[in-house]
Amino acid sequence: MKNYKKNKQVVQNVLIQDFAAEGKCIARLDGGVVFVEGNVAPGDVVDIEIFNNKKKYAEGRVLQTHSLSEKRAAPFCQHFGTCGGCKWQHIKYEEQLQFKWQQVYDHLHRISKVQLPDFEPIVASAETTFYRNKLEYTFSNARWFTPQQMDQADQLGSNALGFHIPRRFDRILDIETCYLQPDPSNQIRNKLRAFAMAEDLVFYDQKVNAGFLRNLIIRTANSGDVMAMVQFGHPNEEKVALVMAYLKNNFPQITSLNYIINQKGNDSYYDQNVVHYAGKAFIEEKMEDLTFRVGPKSFYQTNASQAYELYKITRNFAQLTGNEQVYDLYTGTGTIANFVARQAKSVVGVEYVAEAIEDAKVNSEINQIGNTRFYAGDMKNVLNETFVAENGHPDVVITDPPRAGMDESVVRTILRIAPPRIVYVSCNSATQARDLAWLDEQYAVRRVQPVDMFPHTHHVENVVLLERRA
Ligand SMILES: C[S@@+](CC[C@H](N)C(=O)[O-])C[C@H]1O[C@@H](n2cnc3c(N)ncnc32)[C@H](O)[C@@H]1O
Repeated sequence: MKNYKKNKQVVQNVLIQDFAAEGKCIARLDGGVVFVEGNVAPGDVVDIEIFNNKKKYAEGRVLQTHSLSEKRAAPFCQHFGTCGGCKWQHIKYEEQLQFKWQQVYDHLHRISKVQLPDFEPIVASAETTFYRNKLEYTFSNARWFTPQQMDQADQLGSNALGFHIPRRFDRILDIETCYLQPDPSNQIRNKLRAFAMAEDLVFYDQKVNAGFLRNLIIRTANSGDVMAMVQFGHPNEEKVALVMAYLKNNFPQITSLNYIINQKGNDSYYDQNVVHYAGKAFIEEKMEDLTFRVGPKSFYQTNASQAYELYKITRNFAQLTGNEQVYDLYTGTGTIANFVARQAKSVVGVEYVAEAIEDAKVNSEINQIGNTRFYAGDMKNVLNETFVAENGHPDVVITDPPRAGMDESVVRTILRIAPPRIVYVSCNSATQARDLAWLDEQYAVRRVQPVDMFPHTHHVENVVLLERRA
């Protein structure tokens, strides 16, 4: 940015003008833009230190705040500002919703450039705290100390169980209370940490990949089921038994207790063997009259009650009468497929994670749903004319791709298959907008419905109904 060439330059009394992408805010200086992150809100007046000065924009950090915006709310969490979890706690929820709606509006208008109807108001999340059903806490021997904790660092010790500091794989913020997941999540984490420290168990060292306790995954289902899973860095039978017996004996709420011995260089566990230690091998989530079985490696939407709202909108947009053949692309564990199955003639789900497809089949079976079929494979290889000839021509395609959106070849295939209706569920309205531009060749956008699944973050879901032009 031309007038702020030097990094470390301080600019005083800057008005923060708006929200920007990725949860940042934006200020305009002499025709250029500065992206500011952290505890800042549109309407604040601040002093900024410039860093990362690029040709077209710069990034800045707040040095001092002179006046606070009316869009602000008081953060409710003691870890706010350090933890990367709920970066927008300092923004009123109505303002968060307004921004999310606007972001979807801007993406769809600016990127897709297709004709768009009026947008529906965003659906707010009924729960703005304790809305997640899954959290992953990391053990570390490299605790992050906040400036206030620095003086007591010796007393507090270097072990931590909590969340990664943003952009620091090797530093963990010790969490005392997290407002994302209902209890017993906080209790289990805090008591397990205290027990592990009392027993002198070795917390993991992320820098050299060594140590005994790696991470703790807790899932709390709306049926009341609770799953806990501990990852250990090496097989020490006696100590593994000590930790697992502690959890079993002290937390009768845990209905599924599991562990993994993970000796790899990273703690992703999808390729690891899960040892089922006690209780059931899965937990159950309820939605309408359906039960979904969720295993230790299964994906399930993390805000379950808002997922129900999202799926109702999806089903409503699909306008099912009982006679439709539906394709559910990127079906995951088949949740949408099973959710719409009773209102459709049949549903075909496609997803590339083979284990997810196994879960999808089990979920149809336990709900006595007999009109679904599921296939595992990469969408661009699976979805083609032969597949359609074998499975029947779809009246409705529901698609819920990952953040990258659909591969162009998948969009081209959908255009050739030409279903009368497409319901496009997206967690990234920018890539969705790109895909809508491709689909515009044959499809008109009829409805747009943003949905907030993740309060206090910048993430937003969006459901779009497209109809084939006559
Ligand atoms: C946003 S999730 C959809 C989850 C599901 N609809 C639900 O509501 O639970 C996207 C899914 O697409 C799958 N996926 C990603 N890329 C894929 C590809 N190229 N082919 C098939 N499935 C893919 C992911 O594994 C993931 O399950």
